[in-house]
Amino acid sequence: MNDILPDESYLWEFFEETVRDWLGSYGYRNIRTPVLEQTDLFVRSIGAATDIVEKEMYTFVDELNGENLALRPEGTAACVRAVIEHNLLYAGPQRLWYWGPMFRHERPQKGRYRQFHQVGVEALGFAGPDVDAEHLVMCARLWRALGLDGIELELNTLGDSDARVRYRARLVQYLQRNEAQLDGDSQRRLHSNPLRVLDSKNPALQDLIAGAPRLADDLDESSIKAFDELQALLRDAGVSYRINPRLVRGLDYYNGAVYEWVSGRLGAQNAVCAGGRYDGLVEQIGGKPAPACGFAMGIERLLVLVKDGSEVPSRVPDVYLVRQGELAERFGARVAEVLRDAGLDVLLHCGGGSFKSQMRKADASGARVAVIVGDDESGAGVVSLKPLREAAQQVRASIDEAIDLIKKSVGRTS
Ligand code: HAM
Repeated sequence: MNDILPDESYLWEFFEETVRDWLGSYGYRNIRTPVLEQTDLFVRSIGAATDIVEKEMYTFVDELNGENLALRPEGTAACVRAVIEHNLLYAGPQRLWYWGPMFRHERPQKGRYRQFHQVGVEALGFAGPDVDAEHLVMCARLWRALGLDGIELELNTLGDSDARVRYRARLVQYLQRNEAQLDGDSQRRLHSNPLRVLDSKNPALQDLIAGAPRLADDLDESSIKAFDELQALLRDAGVSYRINPRLVRGLDYYNGAVYEWVSGRLGAQNAVCAGGRYDGLVEQIGGKPAPACGFAMGIERLLVLVKDGSEVPSRVPDVYLVRQGELAERFGARVAEVLRDAGLDVLLHCGGGSFKSQMRKADASGARVAVIVGDDESGAGVVSLKPLREAAQQVRASIDEAIDLIKKSVGRTS
């Protein structure tokens, strides 16, 4: 779990602003749910035999009422729970988004944390594949807005639940025939969650995995048709993709099209964003049946790429207000508020100190202009202006003149 310090958090703010604009431009509305949910919600939705539920959830018993609670490991289940609880689908399909911390007790490594942050998008009540395509086109637009290239889309379809039952039976037979080659993890998964064996990163298993039966051979007609349509929509929109028949996802609620956006610049934890269709989930956790799909991106992983790829300017004050003298302390504080009323960002010097040391701080702050107030200026109701980023003389000005001059100097028109 990480502290995000000011030298880093300006990147988060840049990201958050970009994301808010982007989501608004597609008509998605924000939903905020608690970080705690009943453990059972995640067991039922993500699946009892998944890594997340088996070994990664932070759970505890609330001593006050005996409830089993969990810090949310992801956002989809909570979002669907809230939509059902507040009957949002009664008003029609919903386009929703959320962001916030998620918690998984994983082995910490580069790009994998125990508290991490996601932006998630869910479209509920839409049968697709038009809305699935919308999600992928949206993602491609966000990568462009963030100045990121080299993020590649991997796509697969899991078919309906009957297709997966048929496939699972064939896969288990195949894995059983080769059980001696399986490692401990895969032997455990063989009966609880055999599709996850295909996800193993163990190099010794890669040949066995390559030779495994393919889910594509068990797919139902309507999933094939929806997947073909989705691909046509992506081609129309100029979004390139690669079919990865081994992509199964680590959460049980998926059916139909699933995907991951991966970057070659992140090492082993290369997925920056992932999602897909989960048509059974709303009913499964107590709502009227409703088709749905969505995705979530890992903010930490994306910001590694943003940091590498582009210069994000951090916000620096327009003005550093230097003040010395008893009268000036009070006058300076009032001037700072008047400048802020005029829309300027002002760092007001606090804590006293010599004129020289205050000017050094003004310079280090990155501000374009120092506004200097001594007892002289305070008596006359004026200020002195010293541009800090260009060679120019200090001038005296009334507060109104100062506001005009500062705005010109920082390139602000109104
Ligand atoms: P997920 O694949 O578990 O899917 O997570 C989505 C993204 O969250 C990953 O691609 C990754 O970028 C980031 N992520 C996951 N775990 C960690 C971690 N320990 N540290 C850092 N980043 C991490 C879901 O969570 C689904 N709820 C996505 C979804 C939404 N499907 C439909 N709607």
